[in-house]
Amino acid sequence: MSDLVSYRLEGDIGVISVNYPPVNALGQGVREGLVACLRQGLDDDQAKALVVIGEGRTFPAGADIREFGKPPQGPALPDVVAEYEASDKLVVAAIHGTALGGGLEVALGCDYRVAVDSAKVGLPEVKLGILPGAGGTQRLPRLIGAQKALEVIVAGNPVKAKDALELGIVDELIGGDLLEGALAFARKLAAGNAPLRRIRDLQAKKEDPDLFSNFEKSIARKQRGFKAPFHCIKAVQAAVELPFDEGMKRERELFAELLVSPESRAQRHVFFAEREVAKVPGLPKDTPKRDINQVAVIGAGTMGGGIAMNFANAGIPVKILEVKEDALEKGIAVIRKNYENTAKKGRITAQQVEDRMALIQPTLSYDDLSDVDLVIEAVFENMDVKKAVFSELDRVCKPGAILATNTSTLDVNRIAEFTQRPEDVMGMHFFSPANVMKLLENVRGEKTADDVVATVMDLSRRIGKVGVLVGVCHGFVGNRMLHKRQAEAIQLVNEGASPAQVDKVLFDLGFPMGPFAMSDLAGMDVGYRIREELRKEDPDNAPPRNWTDELVEQGRLGQKTQAGVFDYKEGDRTPVPSSEVDALIAKFREEQGIQAREVSDQEILERCMYVMVNEGAKILEEGIAARPLDVDVIWIYGYGFPVYRGGVLFWADSVGVKTIYDKVSQFHKETGNDVWKPAALLENLANEGKGFYG
Ligand code: 3HC
Ligand code: NAI
Repeated sequence: MSDLVSYRLEGDIGVISVNYPPVNALGQGVREGLVACLRQGLDDDQAKALVVIGEGRTFPAGADIREFGKPPQGPALPDVVAEYEASDKLVVAAIHGTALGGGLEVALGCDYRVAVDSAKVGLPEVKLGILPGAGGTQRLPRLIGAQKALEVIVAGNPVKAKDALELGIVDELIGGDLLEGALAFARKLAAGNAPLRRIRDLQAKKEDPDLFSNFEKSIARKQRGFKAPFHCIKAVQAAVELPFDEGMKRERELFAELLVSPESRAQRHVFFAEREVAKVPGLPKDTPKRDINQVAVIGAGTMGGGIAMNFANAGIPVKILEVKEDALEKGIAVIRKNYENTAKKGRITAQQVEDRMALIQPTLSYDDLSDVDLVIEAVFENMDVKKAVFSELDRVCKPGAILATNTSTLDVNRIAEFTQRPEDVMGMHFFSPANVMKLLENVRGEKTADDVVATVMDLSRRIGKVGVLVGVCHGFVGNRMLHKRQAEAIQLVNEGASPAQVDKVLFDLGFPMGPFAMSDLAGMDVGYRIREELRKEDPDNAPPRNWTDELVEQGRLGQKTQAGVFDYKEGDRTPVPSSEVDALIAKFREEQGIQAREVSDQEILERCMYVMVNEGAKILEEGIAARPLDVDVIWIYGYGFPVYRGGVLFWADSVGVKTIYDKVSQFHKETGNDVWKPAALLENLANEGKGFYG
């Protein structure tokens, strides 16, 4: 018998206890043990009722995802759940931690569920591109009604114990010790001869005749491209319309279809990649970390304010420094307004607004920074200004303080040399808006110490970010690839495509918006200033002038001026093609002697995407990113690359590295442009018939 699940008698109640760290996932051994222990409990004459509980940090948090895609080994989870439901002794699930997915499904096979206040329950399968496949879609609607079940299953978000009680998923909250409480609960039921409560025997209610079609419409935009949410709706519909066993059959079919879908493979890849990025190759897990209890941010502009909010949100006191009083006041006012808007939406309370503001301490004096453990500089993107700031930080900060820069284009190694302690310096590249975007590119300099890297990677998670370690180069990983794509998008328009056509191709691939809508959102002047700077400093390597420069010079800066590559109506972010811009493009082509040609959607896709894949391969080759998964996580969390395609390089594998390499070589031959010079890594993989992921 499996030793991952054990049975014991506590007085007159049998206890089935799962012990499979870290999250008691329902792997084969656990499933086998659950069945064996149930049978033992049923055979135990002294046991009047049974309690199922998880040891360690949680009730089972779901099926064992590592088993997906491997040959199934019995007993199957739906059968395990069915056996619990068929028990003729009362079974109580005692929940702490996170009863997710298959874990909650096991609990739904029990007659009753009790939970501690801090517990969460949920069916997050949709986030892995699948649906609850052990009866969750059939039992939850029967227990709480179709509308509520749809909300829980399709969003896939965990439900707090208190809300689960209100919904009727949980029957009682346990204040003290969970096992004691669950035993008492089971004893009370047994003493009162409480009837069995098999959810399968309940009728699922549909409160609104158009529920399913309306629900589908309500998620269409947000879930564009995903398959699982729509299959979830079909499965819940089956719970309402079909008898239980037929509904289970339908759930199984839909589950099986999703399990082998490319969307689910990609989403599972992202699940593990997101966790894997935290483990830095070559950096031992036990690398010591510095204590970070007090932080400072330099600059209260667009980025500085958002960065400070992350720390306040995590309960970490943060000082924010500006040179001028008015800039400081303005920055603080923006932070307060952001919090107040969040409170208006009901996401935080008025008290939380005040608590967080109290953690943010404005200052005009560097001398106030002598006690901080970490400083993040977010001042103007200018080397002289950075130099002034880092010299000052070097003067005032205590030994061992980490000095980080949020620069997006400057050389972190040079910045480190402005101090006497380059080993304490690294980049922390937040994405805008910094309080919202989950990605944090942590940039390791040549001299950055291991414990500084380990501390910053750990801190990323503490403030709710996905931290990815990258090396120093222009644009790091994300923007370096993005700039190549942007240049290609502009070139495609030069040759004859329209901005709207280019944007549509990338939108259809699953990006939230195309390259031109994105530059309108970010502000066209940002890229313009960088190009102009380059043209002054390094004219030989600067990009040639094009029609986007002209747009900026005419004051078309993007959404903020209601005109950029596209036009915008007041209060509306929808990009509208502009005849004025069309005329500018035509004029540019004429000046350059370019005869506009028809550009196919396929060519747009290949040029915009393959240029990024090739650059990604160069980034790996140079060691700027350690693994393909680091690049993929950056694109998903920094640029909204569709999760159901797994990231730029995971997507490249689905196209075929050889196919991409051939095209890259062809474009290189045709254009002679260095960006198309195939990366050696790409060439090797193509020759070996491999993908980035083997
Ligand atoms: N299967 C296998 N491994 C799992 C797992 C699972 N369901 N859930 C978590 N793990 C692993 C993680 O990969 C990680 O491994 P590592 O230490 O080697 O990197 C370890 O457990 C700890 O996980 P986290 O770092 O995520 O720990 P947290 O404490 O931050 O979060 C959690 C815990 C909330 C349980 C989170 O891990 C989570 O959301 N897990 C996935 C839950 C889920 O999706 N369940 C549904 C599975 S599908 C299913 O049940 C199908 C069924 O309907 C048939
Ligand atoms: P910003 O112009 O909005 O803010 C800069 C702030 O720094 C201003 O409030 C200014 O008063 C202050 N400042 C200037 N010199 C200072 C000094 N010596 N001491 C203290 N404060 C000083 O700029 P933004 O956009 O916030 O950018 C800041 C940094 O973040 C730059 O390095 C930029 O490259 C980087 N970054 C910007 C992103 C963006 O989308 N805006 C994204 C990622 C990084």
